[in-house]
Parts: sequence; C-alpha cells; structure tokens
Amino acid sequence: MKQVRYGFVGCGMMGQEHIRNLKLIDGCSIAAIFEPDENMRAQCAQLAPEAEFASSLDALLQIDALDALVITSPNFCHADQLREIASMRTLPILCEKPLYTDTADEATIKQLIKSYDAPVWVGMEYRYMPPVAALIDRAGAFCGDIRMLSITEHRFPFLEKVGDWNRFNAQSGGTFVEKCCHFFDLMRLIIGAEPHYIMSMAGQAHNHLDERYDGKVPDIWDHGYVIVEFENQARAMLELCMFAEGAAYQERICAIGADGKAEAFVPAAARFWPDDLSTLPRPKLELSPRARKQNETIYCDIDENLMIAGDHAGSTYYQHLEFTKTVTEKIDPAVSLEDGMMAVKMGQAAQISATEKRAVYMDEL
Ligand SMILES: NC(=O)c1ccc[n+]([C@@H]2O[C@H](COP(=O)([O-])OP(=O)(O)OC[C@H]3O[C@@H](n4cnc5c(N)ncnc54)[C@H](O)[C@@H]3O)[C@@H](O)[C@H]2O)c1
Repeated sequence: MKQVRYGFVGCGMMGQEHIRNLKLIDGCSIAAIFEPDENMRAQCAQLAPEAEFASSLDALLQIDALDALVITSPNFCHADQLREIASMRTLPILCEKPLYTDTADEATIKQLIKSYDAPVWVGMEYRYMPPVAALIDRAGAFCGDIRMLSITEHRFPFLEKVGDWNRFNAQSGGTFVEKCCHFFDLMRLIIGAEPHYIMSMAGQAHNHLDERYDGKVPDIWDHGYVIVEFENQARAMLELCMFAEGAAYQERICAIGADGKAEAFVPAAARFWPDDLSTLPRPKLELSPRARKQNETIYCDIDENLMIAGDHAGSTYYQHLEFTKTVTEKIDPAVSLEDGMMAVKMGQAAQISATEKRAVYMDEL
C-alpha cells in the first residue's frame, strides 16, 4: 500500500483519537505534529514517538515529508488555519467539524471551494458508525420515499478541553453548530434534499452552571429540540440531551418512508461505559416493513479494538480508510467543503431560531 505521512494541526483528545486509528491502518504514519500545549505534546509523543514536533503551523507547513494534514484544533481556529495552509501548501486535508464558527468565515470556505487544488474532507465521523452507515446504505431502497427522519442523542456533558474552549458559544459556534452539525449532515445525506426552514428550542438546564472561567458562567446549551422542513417536504427532528450519560444506546436514528421504517442504534462510547464492554447493547439496524411481523434486525458489531481506539463507535477508523483513498487515489472527498458548510449553516439557523423564538429560513443565512 502507498505510504501516507500525516501532519497534525492541534492534537488534543480528538487528534489523539485520529492517531490511534491511523496506527491501525497499514501504510499510514504520523510524520509531524503542531500542538501548543505541553501536556498534550507529551501524550502525542507517547502515541507517536516517530513524529517530529513543529513549533507553529508555519513551521509544520515547511516540512516537506507530508502527504496529508489533519486539523484537530479548536473549532474557532479552523477557518484561519485553512486559509494559512492554502497560502503555503496544496495538501489533502481532513478538517474536523465544524468547518467554521463565524459567518464571516464563510467567504474563506467559498474561496477554498473555488481555488484549493487538493481534496478537503470535513470530519463527519457519524456517517461512518457501522449501524449509521448501514442505515445510510439501506434506508433509501428499504423505506421508499423518506418523509420523516428523527435523530436522538442522549449522552454525557461536554468534556473538559484544553483552554476550556467548548464552554462558550463564541469559541465553539454554539451547541447546535459544535455538536449537532453531525446530525444536520446526516439529515441532508439520508433525505437527499436541502433544508428549507428550521425551528428549534434549547437551553442550559443542568450542565456547567457551577463552573467559572475568568468569572464567567459557560453559556453552552445542554439540551434542545430542532425540527427541519426540507425542500422536498420531508421533515426531520433532532432531540439532544447532554445530561443522559446513563443511556446504553447513545444515538438512535429513525427514517420512515412509504414502504417502511429503518432505525439505527449506536451504543454509548466505550471509554465511559463502566462495565465489561460485552455488557454494552449491540449496535444494530432494525428494518420494519409496513407489513406486520416481518421485522428484521441486522447486528453491526464493532471490533473491540476500534471501540477503544476512540469515542465514536469505530467511525474514526472507517472514515480514515476512505480518506486515505482520497489521498492516494486522488478521488473526491465523500464529505465535501459544501457539506461541511451546510452543516454549519443549519446549526447556525437552529441557534438563531432558539434564541429569537422563530422559524429561520435557510435563505436568511
Ligand atoms: N467528529 C467528532 O465526533 C469530534 C469529536 C470531538 C472533537 N471534535 C473536533 O475536534 C477538534 C478538537 O477537539 P478536541 O476535543 O480534541 O479538543 P482539545 O481541546 O482536546 O484539543 C484541541 C487541541 O488543539 C490545541 N490548540 C489550541 N489552539 C491551537 C492552535 N491555534 N493551533 C493548533 N492547535 C491548537 C490545544 O492545545 C489542544 O490540544 C474540535 O474542532 C472538535 O469539534 C470532533
């Protein structure tokens, strides 16, 4: 297999999940890392002792022996870093979601779409969780014309981050951008149409209220509902709860069409499961045609090594298998800059809708 030498821009929790997964793929190596935090650098050196450490993004980009970059810096850094990379190199990039946080950065993304001459893949790992991938693969043909899609995520609160960047909307983009861009991406992909308008409600009920950062209380929401009408009149709904870490299934995604219903069940992240992993419920896809008593359950078991290599049900590994092909075979990325941008815009619409208590039409953004 052709060798792919990766350079990392920021390498905290998620960057290290990428490294653990790349280490499981033949031909992938970690060539260089720019990570400003000393403690995180020490963790990276343990995981990838072969990597060279660069003192800045500029210094990282001076290293010739790179075939691809992975951006796993905080959300608010992505757009500036994409701009800086494009001014110095033309390398394939996997940029973690969300692609940007500030509407002003949309121009950067549009410019990249026009003129950056290498693939840019946006990290939408949820597409690659085995039961979700099975649903994406089967739902169109099985359900017929999909008219309803509901996504439920019941999970743990936001984790602690370097510099606590995820505690404030100004740095993360807000919960519906930061966290839920994954779900808006899935809605567009499964329904196969663009959103028309969005309504939402949300709030901060229980999490982070007793924390203080320079005297300020975090302003990130911990629960909410979003409903979306698509241009083909399909309708989708998201229910997010971030004070439900006891849930054995963390995500449930249900598509219903003229012919039947398909529902994917994703188990909780291995790292937070208190028991032996064999006690986690099995990941599965349930197919229920309208004819009664003909339900089928397809189990999508995930290798234990993949479950413990990250918090995302093996998806980081499967995404990298595909991204590596994008690098070596120069094929178009499966998750494009346009996809990344639409997921952010839907998140921004949901943020505005809940704040202003009104429907937000996508053409307002
Ligand atoms: N796709 C997913 O499911 C998923 C899951 C978790 C995180 N993420 C994304 O991954 C990114 C990183 O999140 P994380 O959880 O690893 O956070 P983190 O705080 O653990 O890691 C971010 C790292 O970037 C470093 N950093 C800070 N400023 C930087 C800069 N200007 N340039 C380069 N590095 C810088 C920090 O020192 C830190 O080590 C975020 O965009 C986040 O949204 C995606």
